[in-house]
Parts: sequence; structure tokens; C-alpha cells
Amino acid sequence: MNGKNMAQQNTAFTTDEILAQDAHLIQSFANLDGLKQQGARTAIVKANGAIVTDSEGNELIDGIGGLWCVNVGHGRKEIIDAITKQLKTLDYYSTFYNFTHPAAAALADKLASLAPGGLNQVYFGNSGSVANDSAIRMLHHYNNRLGRPNKKKILSRFGAYHGSTHLAMALTTPAYSDGWDTAAEGLVHHLRAPYAYREAGEMTEAEFLDALADDMLGAIHHIGAENIAAFIAEPIMGAGGILVAPDGYHARMRQITADHDIKYIADEVVTAFGRLGHMFASQDMFGMEPDMITTAKGLTSGYQPLSATIISNEIYEVISKPGAMFLHGMTYSGHPAAAAAGLANIGILEREQIPQKVRVTGKVFENALCGLSDLDIVGEVRGSHFMMGIEFVKNKDSKETYADEVNVGLRVAQEAQKRGLIARPLGNILILSPTLIMEETMIGQIEGILRDSITAVTATLPV
Ligand SMILES: Cc1ncc(COP(=O)(O)O)c(C=O)c1O
Repeated sequence: MNGKNMAQQNTAFTTDEILAQDAHLIQSFANLDGLKQQGARTAIVKANGAIVTDSEGNELIDGIGGLWCVNVGHGRKEIIDAITKQLKTLDYYSTFYNFTHPAAAALADKLASLAPGGLNQVYFGNSGSVANDSAIRMLHHYNNRLGRPNKKKILSRFGAYHGSTHLAMALTTPAYSDGWDTAAEGLVHHLRAPYAYREAGEMTEAEFLDALADDMLGAIHHIGAENIAAFIAEPIMGAGGILVAPDGYHARMRQITADHDIKYIADEVVTAFGRLGHMFASQDMFGMEPDMITTAKGLTSGYQPLSATIISNEIYEVISKPGAMFLHGMTYSGHPAAAAAGLANIGILEREQIPQKVRVTGKVFENALCGLSDLDIVGEVRGSHFMMGIEFVKNKDSKETYADEVNVGLRVAQEAQKRGLIARPLGNILILSPTLIMEETMIGQIEGILRDSITAVTATLPV
């Protein structure tokens, strides 16, 4: 794929016109000052399958799947038709008070059937952030109902990303709120990141696991289990730099939390719906059943904003006892069009056996990217299936990094985009989380573009 392939424009706007209007739009997680520079922004005007087209007509492989969300690929008629049909039948009704509607009911039922055994009750929101906020609010209420008003603190981890509402940002690693405030000061304790490449030193994988378990036990003893409501963890950390915990980590942490009556929230906003080869990763990949799963993104493949907080029967029992009121809700919880998109999307994942295929193609992708390890500035390639990260270093032996202002990740991403691939820079790391419909040929193209881009950037880096 050549990034300069001119595709037919399907928009009435030129790049200049779009960007003039875009001066009024505040981009997320962006250097707003940097965006004022000519050429800093890319307007995407259309998408199909694994490819998006920018306003200049360049066709680009969508190496980040929108935002780790377009699992079944772009332009799926079946989802678009399901949304349209739903809107024509019932455009909006809420799931508030005593109301419900067939699309939300059917999707809740479907998710209960897909989630691990004891997780059968679903609360819908509009984003992963809201799914995590909702999980914490529900658990706080749960402990109030049980007469344990002090059991409220949350264990999270450095490197975690759980969203950017005030509460979700408090759960997220502090690095993400540099210069910003987080609500609920003192509510969250961050444990060590399972970042073996930088944290394990000379330890074996098993020793590193012990160290991480000790860190959790130490925190529990220090804070007191009677004051801790939950531990929240992504099965594989995404926006923290694709951090894969040591073998057995989640099961071990699950055991420790269970021993101390602390709930385990698995944040599967990214890892569910096929990205790692399963509908949900917690049990099928990591062998443990959490108390809650939060998910979003691949739930509708991004065609509609929707999230789900899926909770255990035991938690539901307590919060639905006589006298309890569920004082939580958003106007668009379980929006009919979003629920219809979710059902159609899951229909595609099941019918085309996408998770099963990912177990094969995702491994091909993983191996292709690992093949880049021979390049001089590639310190580590890590991740699993269609969730991968490449960490760049100045010195492979010492793992010394380039200074922040060198922007090595951004430079590689810019070179890749020139060659027809969108990848996401994160400091010294480059993240790839493409659509799950990649065939081997396109995987080969991605590897080739990355190899050329990294080589080109290496030639320009300070020694
Ligand atoms: C693991 C994880 N949790 C939560 C979120 C927040 O989701 P949203 O952006 O939909 O609020 C994200 C977003 O990237 C995420 O990666």
C-alpha cells in the first residue's frame, strides 16, 4: 500500500476547509499548541474494511483500529442496517425507572451468556470511563448496604489506563493527569506496574510475580482489607504501553483479593470481543473469574458509543435487596441504536468466528512484529495477538531511552503514516491495535512499513 494512493473523495470539503472548521474542536489527549501547526492534524474522511482514507485521498491501513475499537472492520453493512432499522422502529427510549426496550434487553441477555459463569447482570453506559465509574459507584453502594461504610479504597496500578472522567482518571496511572487534578484524593492506591522490561531487573518471571504479589499484600496490610473495596486491572495494560503481566499474575491477584474479601474488577474495555482471541480474556485466557467486567470499544466495534459493567450475581443480590435504590443512570444507558449495533457486531464476531481466527492471525501479527527486534533501536516488542507495542531505546544493553524531546515514537508514527500505516505513538513506545480482520498479506505490509519507518528514523536520531 502506498500512502499516496489517491482515492476518490467522498466529501464536499477540502482539507483546508475541514481544518479551518476544526480550529473550534478540542482534540482529546493532544498537544493543543502543537496542533496549531500546519500539517499537524489528519482528517479521516472515509473507511472501509481495514483501510481509512484521509482528506488528501491517502489510503492508510488502520493500524490502531480507530481507537482499539473497530474490531470487525469498518463499513459493515449489517451493523449499519441494524442501527438504521432500530432507529426507524424505536429511535429512543430510556432504561430508567420501570422502562426497558427489546434491544437493551436482548444485548444484556447476550452479554450474560458470554461473560464468565457468575457474571449475569449488565449495566450499560456510553464509554469505558463510565463503565469503570459505574463499577466503583456500585461497589461503594454494595459496601454501604452491607454496613461497611469504610470499605471504599481501590487498588489500581501504575501504568493503568481506566478512562478520563474524574473518577476513572483517579484510577488511571498518575502520569496521565500531570498538571490536571483528580477527584477523590486518597481513594486510590497504585501498585507496582507489571512492567518486566523496566521493573524486573535480574528477577526471573516467577520472582517478579512474587514481588508483585508481595506489593499487593503489603498494600492490603498497610491500608487494611476492611478499607479496600476493589482491585481494578486490565488483563493486558494498553495505554500504559502494552504491559503483559507475568504468567499466572491475574489468577494470583484474584486469589489474594478473594482471600481478603476485595472485589476484582477486570477492565476489559480493550481486551474483549476478539482482540486477544476470545470474547472475554479474563477466564478464557487468564484462567480467572473476576467479580465485575467492564467493557466498551469492541462491544459495538465503535459503530455506536456503548459500554457495559457486568457484575456478579452476588453483588447484584446485595444491591437489589428490598429497600435498596439504584441511584445511578445516564440518559443514553442502553440506547436502542447502540444496543442494536452491539447485537449485530456480536453476531458478526460469532458467525465469522473472528475470535477463533484471531488465535491464528493474531499470532502471525505478534510474530511479524517480534521480527522487528533485530533493529538497532527496538528494545522490546511485546503484547499479544492484535494488541502490540514496540519500545524504542537508545542502547539495547542499558535500555537507555531517547530524551522526551526526541519524540522517537511520534517520528516513527509519522514515517509510517507517510508510508500508508496509522500507528499510535506513546513516548518511546509505538502501539498497534488494528482491526481483527487482517489477512497475512496485510500483516506483511504492516511489518514492512514499520521496518522501513524505524530504519528511516534511526538514521536521523542523535547518537
Ligand atoms: C483499558 C481501558 N479502560 C477504559 C478506557 C476508557 O474508555 P473510554 O475512552 O471509552 O471512556 C480505555 C480507553 O482507551 C481503556 O483503554
